[in-house]
Amino acid sequence: MTVLCHETAAWKALERHYREEMAEFDIVQGFADDPGRLAALSQQAPHVFADLSKNRITPRTGELLTALAQECGLVESRDRMFAGAPINTSEGRAAMHWLLRMPRDGGLLRDRPMEAPVRTALDAVHDTLDAMLALAEQVRSRPEITDIVNIGIGGSHLGPEVVVNALEDWRSPDKRFHFVSNVDGHELGHVLSRVRPESTLFLVASKSFTTAETMLNAHSARTWFLANGGTLEGDCAIADHFIALTTNVAAAAAFGIRRTLGFWDWVGGRYSLWSAIGLPIAIAVGATHFRALLAGAHAMDAHFVTAPLARNLPVRLGLLDIWYRNFHGFGSRCIAPYSHGLRRLTAYLQQLEMESNGKQVDAQGRPVAVATSAVVWGEPGTNGQHAFFQMLHQGPDVIPVEFIAMRDGGKYLGAHQHSLLINAVAQAQALMVGRRQESSEKYCPGNRPSNFLLLQQLDPASLGALIALYEHRVFVTGAIWGINSFDQWGVELGKNLARDLAERQERGDWQDVDASTAGLMRRLIAADLP
Ligand code: F6P
Repeated sequence: MTVLCHETAAWKALERHYREEMAEFDIVQGFADDPGRLAALSQQAPHVFADLSKNRITPRTGELLTALAQECGLVESRDRMFAGAPINTSEGRAAMHWLLRMPRDGGLLRDRPMEAPVRTALDAVHDTLDAMLALAEQVRSRPEITDIVNIGIGGSHLGPEVVVNALEDWRSPDKRFHFVSNVDGHELGHVLSRVRPESTLFLVASKSFTTAETMLNAHSARTWFLANGGTLEGDCAIADHFIALTTNVAAAAAFGIRRTLGFWDWVGGRYSLWSAIGLPIAIAVGATHFRALLAGAHAMDAHFVTAPLARNLPVRLGLLDIWYRNFHGFGSRCIAPYSHGLRRLTAYLQQLEMESNGKQVDAQGRPVAVATSAVVWGEPGTNGQHAFFQMLHQGPDVIPVEFIAMRDGGKYLGAHQHSLLINAVAQAQALMVGRRQESSEKYCPGNRPSNFLLLQQLDPASLGALIALYEHRVFVTGAIWGINSFDQWGVELGKNLARDLAERQERGDWQDVDASTAGLMRRLIAADLP
């Protein structure tokens, strides 16, 4: 039996610390009181510098949170994940996404012992990776292929989409990338209206190869392909224009796709961009840059495994999330990437965090007595400043903000990058200092916390490190709450009910269905809407 976080001595000490020292803590005053505040509350991790000093914490808060991590067995949980133990208990699986970015010789973690099955899995990872990168290079060398259409949803969509967008400066200019996820036919239809079968490669990405949206989109794409000059065999054959990325190789073959890149059930969907699901990324940026993405993530893995808890960035960020969620009661966190390249990061993080930790029972089936995943939301800056930032500055709710910025703007150095960075820093400052001397309408309370994550530039290695940082941070909060962060049974309910409603509609049977649902269904299928 693992310990319940709220029953630990550290939790009680944190409650007292909050009540007696921190409930009224003012960040600006914190800087005045402690000249060493910035140094104590900021750190460099691989590829990512983090300034955590604009938070409602003191070094004492950090000590107590670290004690909480120790009492909750975070180190043991982390080491179990990195040993390949079946920590996804409800599905009896390991969670070894970290293995996907480990070099064949163990890289920065080569001195740690590795069990034989994990060693075998690492060899399989590299065999598949080599095959995937060879395939990617082959596709990149075919100028007649101008459009890559990724059909997938959730983890089979969001990670590749974030990375392909983010690495625009590193992408091959002669290919366009399209991501189709929604079962709303407008999305697929819009893409199909702009491509031709002979110059398009479809990637059907689905870990399970059963997800309803992806299957319907893939079937429709296939039908369109055959109706517009594509063939079953011969010129412009399906075999040359469809590739499956899945753990369910048999289902892909049954669909009629001959070329499949596989991966393993120990890769969670939302942790899968490093696997065969990353093929669109590899086609976009090529083998060398894909390997750099993996190397950046591996550097963060090694940091997570080896750095002391008090200087371990995923641990510090995860514990900060616990501090705000459970002791301050803040219900959401705003993500503000000051980067057009990271415009889809928030959507990706919503799945990563909320699908992983949006749960109310722990891994042993016991109710978690405290609040779990916050709502994660946001938009890139500076756009958000002209939309919802008003509420962040003056609304009654305190919402911690996470700024993400790059020192070097790549292609767009100069005035644009300068303005972008100045705006990010100014917003963080404004949230903290407020405008307290003013009365009434202009009053801004300040003391609004924020993290500032800074990358040198948005290159493959930095991006890999940033994403791995978020993965491990989610692991940290899940481990403190005792949650299994690697299943998602809540999603199944909606899937089952959609199936049930489709069957009922066929039969016209609305017995034992609540009046609202039955009423809506009748309205949807009625020929003559009132
Ligand atoms: O949303 C539920 C979910 O199972 C996610 O966890 C997953 O990433 C997504 O659906 C897609 O699943 P698949 O890759 O099996 O199509």
